[in-house]
Amino acid sequence: MINIAVLGYGTIGSGVVEVLNINGESIGKKAGDTINIKYVLDLKEFPGDPIMEKLVHDVNIILEDPEIKIVVEVMGGVEPAYTFVKTALLKGKSVVTSNKELVAKHGAELLKIAKERNLNFLFEASVGGGIPIIRPLNQSLTADEIMEITGILNGTTNFILSKMTDEGLDFETALKNAQDLGYAERNPSADVDGYDACRKIAILSSLAFGMQVDYEDIYTEGITKITDTDIKYAKALGAKIKLFATSVRDEKDNIHAMVAPMLIKSSHPLYSVDNVLNGIFVRGNVIGDVMFYGSGAGKLPTASAVVADVVDAAKHLGKNIWTIWSSKKLELTDINQVSHRFFVRVNGKSAELTKELMDQFGDIELVNVDGMEDETAFITGSITEQEFKDKKDSLDNLQSVIRVRF
Ligand code: HSE
Repeated sequence: MINIAVLGYGTIGSGVVEVLNINGESIGKKAGDTINIKYVLDLKEFPGDPIMEKLVHDVNIILEDPEIKIVVEVMGGVEPAYTFVKTALLKGKSVVTSNKELVAKHGAELLKIAKERNLNFLFEASVGGGIPIIRPLNQSLTADEIMEITGILNGTTNFILSKMTDEGLDFETALKNAQDLGYAERNPSADVDGYDACRKIAILSSLAFGMQVDYEDIYTEGITKITDTDIKYAKALGAKIKLFATSVRDEKDNIHAMVAPMLIKSSHPLYSVDNVLNGIFVRGNVIGDVMFYGSGAGKLPTASAVVADVVDAAKHLGKNIWTIWSSKKLELTDINQVSHRFFVRVNGKSAELTKELMDQFGDIELVNVDGMEDETAFITGSITEQEFKDKKDSLDNLQSVIRVRF
């Protein structure tokens, strides 16, 4: 029997208990031994829940118990999770976590501690919920140099954009829908301002390139400025607006990363990833393109990834699964040097304005939507972020800007 402890009995923690209840027998066979939850740590009480038999309020009971071989951290947030996880590793316990804030900030250090002690620090559930992406990057795609990772990594924003597209809702109404359904984080800013996706692409980039990508270095823009009018233009273009989290290695081996809404057409592999689903597109220099798709959030999908990591940790007790993620900082390319096409809407419509815009931006593609008589919309050619900023500053009638991936 392998004893484990679960830190946090919230959505994911209770999901972990449920998954082990549903599939405990087959999970035990795959792990080579029965997985037994000996303790669950939470500050709250859960009267009437059988978990009360295992509930403890003091983390030291878990940390000091030599029978606990694997600690599952599903509390979220950096502290006290970081202190608990680090102490568990220092005390000889492997750790499994779903906590993207913790992994993005301290992943390199915690992996190093685990390696030095022949333990494991596993975090499949921290990105893409139930979608396997961490293990494929570490184990299946190791013959490749990763050239690009682009993901729809936040289910809430994908749901909001899908609702705006399919039902013509405005942003606020679609956000309210997402909150009513329990998709949005407690603080919706983490989702809608792109911070959640930013931490996730920081983790994937650190793994893909083997060095520390600081999430603070990643240019991040959320979806709060996307309006129902933008969606009308997207439809007129035969396109959709998606929140992309992307990191790209160019031909000179420079790497840039960003989180921002993108206009994409049906030729893009992520076009059909709608609602709360996540999709991750990876391009390797020998394998070509691969796609990962599925439930990127939610209780049972995320718990499934957590428990799969527990099985892996159980199969590798006393043996480290090597993950290359050095603490050396990866210097990302200044985003101002990166080129895109930009979709732009400005107030006003006249031959004179069109001429001014052409003088300023060169060859532009005008986009017309029936009923939009008081504004001009266009797509620029491929120009750097800096060039765009310089030109944009002279527009005093700007309505919206969205980057274009076609
Ligand atoms: N709020 C996140 C999302 C949960 O919507 O994707 C999973 O990290």
